[in-house]
Amino acid sequence: YGTMRVNARGHLEIGGVDSVDLAKRFGTPLYVYDVELIRNRAKSFLKAFRTMGVEGQVSYASKAFSSIAILQLVHQEGLGIDVVSGGELYTAMKAGFPPEKIHFHGNNKSPEEIRMALDYQIGCFIVDNFYELELLHRLCEERSRKVNIQIRISPGIEAHTHHYIITGQEDSKFGFDLGSGQAEEALKRALSLPLYNVQGFHFHIGSQIFDTKAYRLAVKKIYQHLALWKEKYAYEPAVLNLGGGFGIRYTQDDHPLPVEKYVEAIVGEVKKEVEERGLSFPKIWLEPGRSIVGDAGVTLYSVGSMKEVPNIRRYVAVDGGMSDNIRPALYEAKYEAVVANRVLEPRDRVVSIAGKCCESGDMLIWDLPVPDLQSGDILAVFSTGAYGYSMASNYNRLPRPAVVFVENGEARLVVKRETYEDLVKNDLPLTAYTNI
Ligand code: LLP
Repeated sequence: YGTMRVNARGHLEIGGVDSVDLAKRFGTPLYVYDVELIRNRAKSFLKAFRTMGVEGQVSYASKAFSSIAILQLVHQEGLGIDVVSGGELYTAMKAGFPPEKIHFHGNNKSPEEIRMALDYQIGCFIVDNFYELELLHRLCEERSRKVNIQIRISPGIEAHTHHYIITGQEDSKFGFDLGSGQAEEALKRALSLPLYNVQGFHFHIGSQIFDTKAYRLAVKKIYQHLALWKEKYAYEPAVLNLGGGFGIRYTQDDHPLPVEKYVEAIVGEVKKEVEERGLSFPKIWLEPGRSIVGDAGVTLYSVGSMKEVPNIRRYVAVDGGMSDNIRPALYEAKYEAVVANRVLEPRDRVVSIAGKCCESGDMLIWDLPVPDLQSGDILAVFSTGAYGYSMASNYNRLPRPAVVFVENGEARLVVKRETYEDLVKNDLPLTAYTNI
């Protein structure tokens, strides 16, 4: 998978580097990223647009994993990014990301965050609600600045992993509702505000989606309105931003499409709609997060204690858990794993992998087939590259793990492991309290 293979020592190798050596050198838990896979995924998205002969912009949804190095990497590969907070924006600027290739999402951007983004002169704001529509414009007036905006629409189609639901009025905190006329109201208002260049529309229909149906349906639905809006307001969008959500493989039950299939389906549907309706073809933007970094990430843990509950289960505890990967506890997300130092040994036992946090729910994998495990073995959990580090916490005052990039036989530390000193750096002693 990617550059992952089993080497001559029977160890898991990633990017030409022995994962057991990585665990020794950088310690565990450790997030390891296969850089080549990230590069290839980015290239596949861009190539798919080129093959279809249309202009596209692919922006990495940096919420999936934001750090200076990953943003520099996706910039090298020609992607833009989306940010959803002042913190993500700050990280992007620290990474030297060109501000014109950054766009800003979020259902409650604060005035401070908006001012910051205006000062950095980012490329585009995705306006989510009426409050923001007015607020952003006021802040543009303060600075006499014109900005690009896209209007976030809630299309009433929600895709779930294996199916989609259509609701007249989507019950979502994001975006302007399409069916009830809110979206049209927002467009009218935005077109009347002089400091807005209304680039187009955005929608995001869900995450970890395995087929193209929901995307095609959402495109169809929005074009019914776009045709009408052209007549009424002589307005046609220059950009149609369809968000992210492209699924990846976590376990053998997941069957994602190659990313180019999503692009083909989306572009194909837009082409069909504009041709049928005599509209002009917009630039298509996508915002993949998980499908850029998700399956490129592996977490290495050291096996510690084990507990046998007679006739029921064998618990094997590792040195991380819900603090570095909240997804199993939060979403009942499933993962696969191997024992990195003994990949080829027969997996004739079944164990459950527990984290080290003080919560019964801190279980990473139930019923994993493994060889006879020993304390000190290295467990490699696959597909942890998206929403792992980015949703990590210091619960139980566990320092966040380090992040390492591997490529062509070389390993590079890109995020240092937190120290105990980091954990207390914002704490003030009780005596300081009286002085505030
Ligand atoms: N664009 C927008 C507007 C989004 O809200 C999201 C994700 C994306 C793009 C990227 O979606 P992706 O391609 O990564 O599926 N924490 C959850 C996922 C939350 C996704 C939120 N929005 C998880 O761990 O599964």
